[in-house]
Amino acid sequence: MTEYAAIILAAGQGTRMKSRLAKVLHPLAGVPMLSYVIDLVQALQIEKNIVIVGHQAEAVSALVSEKGAVALLQNPPKGTGHAVLQAKEALKHFQGPVLILNGDTPLLRKETIEQFVAQYQREGAALALLTVSLDNPRGYGRVIRKMAGAISHIVEEKDASPEERLISEVNTGVYLCDAAFLFKALARIQPNNQQNEYYLTDIIGIAVSEGVHLIGIETRPEEVIGVNSRADLAKAEAVIRDRINQQWMAEGVAMIDPSQVYIEAKVTIGRDTVLYPGVVLEGETHIGEGVTVHPARIRDSRIGDEALIKDYCLIDSAEIASQVSIGPFAHIRPGSVIQKSAKVGNFVEVKKSVLGEGSKVSHLSYIGDAHVGKNVNIGAGTITCNYDGKNKFQTTIEDDVFIGSDTQLVAPVRVGKGALIAAGTTVTRDVPPDALALSRVKQENKADWVKKRNRLEPKK
Ligand code: UD1
Ligand code: CA
Repeated sequence: MTEYAAIILAAGQGTRMKSRLAKVLHPLAGVPMLSYVIDLVQALQIEKNIVIVGHQAEAVSALVSEKGAVALLQNPPKGTGHAVLQAKEALKHFQGPVLILNGDTPLLRKETIEQFVAQYQREGAALALLTVSLDNPRGYGRVIRKMAGAISHIVEEKDASPEERLISEVNTGVYLCDAAFLFKALARIQPNNQQNEYYLTDIIGIAVSEGVHLIGIETRPEEVIGVNSRADLAKAEAVIRDRINQQWMAEGVAMIDPSQVYIEAKVTIGRDTVLYPGVVLEGETHIGEGVTVHPARIRDSRIGDEALIKDYCLIDSAEIASQVSIGPFAHIRPGSVIQKSAKVGNFVEVKKSVLGEGSKVSHLSYIGDAHVGKNVNIGAGTITCNYDGKNKFQTTIEDDVFIGSDTQLVAPVRVGKGALIAAGTTVTRDVPPDALALSRVKQENKADWVKKRNRLEPKK
């Protein structure tokens, strides 16, 4: 089989994004845009995978190496032609075809490139250009064809005449080119254009003038969006999101309205899970089978089988075991582990705590830096006072404890197995197993006090 090399252009600043972050690092479904292009080359099993970096080279290179591709520096970036030229040395012994892709075109599918490659081979071309016809071709380089239909050259929008701007067929930025011709042609291009840049697109005109076998292959619009602006980014995000949702539905996940479900690329979900509108699943989140998720945001967390996440919860870096019920309106913060069949109810915040199997904290509580055993019932309005303004302290609640409503547990403190804390207690000392802890001022009832007051101070 012919050996291919790939060059991905990712050195540009992306001025039109108006961002501090390099364009190719902007996330799509939680993953940098450039990752999709690198993954595509890897899926095509092209081993020589070169990425041209320049703007924010350090950060972009870090991503490139992490993904096992090779970063080459273009400093300073002087255009797409100049970018490809940076790979000349690295490919000096390479004879085969070079696939060139833009780092800002993340929606391309493997099948599309495979067809492109197949046609290039079939027709024995030396240069192939992937084109597309767009209803609104604004911003793209236009493909100029001769009377007979053969490609003549490409003209960038900024350099195009009003008539040329009416042309709807544009350059997608995807090329296949014989390496020898590529570097020979690049040596000849000049920055004679509006942007004073070395345009890669000029190799098309050179190929035509030299009689090199050039073909143009047209594809469908959806995959070839070049992301130049925030609006393009949102469009690309919508396409990726739809692909992700379609994939999970095919795997047996139910979505009441997929247009309102946001699942990032690294998330995994088990079958028979139901996702309601307004669900946002981010980062490395894993959802089990048969889970029901009402509108909620879940980030870097693991949710066990048959769990129930009720409306408006935020779950971050936590582990929720099977058959647990969370919410509505619960906040589960990093480091929390909610064990099997436990329940966290409305307006409860849990931070860096373990809630044991079958335990319940149903209403309006704060549980932080706590270890709660099995079958514990924590009454409404209970607070673990874990912070003294300087340091954080642990609360331990052993199995089968009953904590009455409105209890404060001043940490560090331990409540022994089976103990009972009376409502309204401030626990400042350890409670032995099976004990009753009670700390409140004894109630006094003053008979007829109100009547007497009203007699002394009659209502006006
Ligand atoms: C480019 C094409 C245009 C095509 C469009 C498709 C040129 C001159 N124009 O235009 O014909 O319709 O893509 O999306 O090629 N880059 C570098 N180094 C540089 C400049 C850019 O690596 O010096 C990289 C960018 O990071 C980007 C890619 O090349 O990933 C394309 O650059 P961009 O400025 O977005 O080109 P377009 O104007 O979109
Ligand atoms: Ca672009």
